[in-house]
Amino acid sequence: PDNSSKPPLTIRLCQPRGFCAGVDRAIQIVVLALKKYGAPVYVRHEIVHNRYVVEGLQNLGAVFVEELDEIPDEHHERPVVFSAHGVPKSVPADAQARNLFYLDATCPLVSKVHKQAMRHQRLGRHVLLIGHAGHPEVIGTMGQLPEGSVTLIENEADVAAFVPEDADALGFVTQTTLSVEDTAGLIRALRQRFPTLTAPAAESICYATTNRQEAVKETAVGADLFLVVGAPNSSNSRRLVEVAERAGAKMSLLVQRASEIPWQNIGAISTLGLSAGASAPEIIVDEIVNAFRERFDVRVDLAVTATETENFPVMSALRDVELTPS
Ligand code: F3S
Repeated sequence: PDNSSKPPLTIRLCQPRGFCAGVDRAIQIVVLALKKYGAPVYVRHEIVHNRYVVEGLQNLGAVFVEELDEIPDEHHERPVVFSAHGVPKSVPADAQARNLFYLDATCPLVSKVHKQAMRHQRLGRHVLLIGHAGHPEVIGTMGQLPEGSVTLIENEADVAAFVPEDADALGFVTQTTLSVEDTAGLIRALRQRFPTLTAPAAESICYATTNRQEAVKETAVGADLFLVVGAPNSSNSRRLVEVAERAGAKMSLLVQRASEIPWQNIGAISTLGLSAGASAPEIIVDEIVNAFRERFDVRVDLAVTATETENFPVMSALRDVELTPS
């Protein structure tokens, strides 16, 4: 193609970006379950917060439901997969009561937070969960403990309003996909009020969240535009947009597909920062780079800030399935 007429554009491509080990595992679980048991395989809630992934799995025979009672009686022998975000304890209990065969795709790092919350409670602490109301991970973590034993803290106002029964018996955990900076601020505010507040034995914010935010922070400095590939209901993707804005990108946007890029608002740019949330497939990053290539003379600079080697194996029930390319 003749690039002479196109304006130059440097794309700073964040590395790491996109799929984390937990998302990768959850998708594999659905694909392997379809191979082993055939269609349909039910999935409770969007397996990961991405339409493209969900539609791809639907085409293979996955059927998405919000609650277990949507699974028709005649399909009770079909497997049902729980999403990567985790589920309240009532969900596997309900599945057992209905005699359903379930495969739990909860990310091991979310399960780790569940265990830390239970540990706080076992040691006599009331649990503070820092997170966003209504997010499935928050519903899942709160649902590990009896009602009333967890208090959700979303912001500074919640910190100020919280009245504990025993100010010296408090422990906290957080959602895995929060802003590292905002969370540190909330923990500071909590500690000011409750100096003996106990941290979880291991950091709740996961490696993927931390690494993606770090990469965005470095690449967003001075960028004319920063694009994050991700869905509006993806917590970690939305945090990346905020991180880019704070780090100094002139404009920062969340897009699900190249077709959502608002070309008319972009104007003359020479530096674009690009990353993808933990649930966003790489193929959409390619699609976006190509959309820019049509309009600009693009040069891609890979901005490497960390190397990731995490890999979470699927449950043993699915390890014998041969994956043949189809
Ligand atoms: Fe797990 Fe973190 Fe991904 S908690 S699903 S590795 S964003």
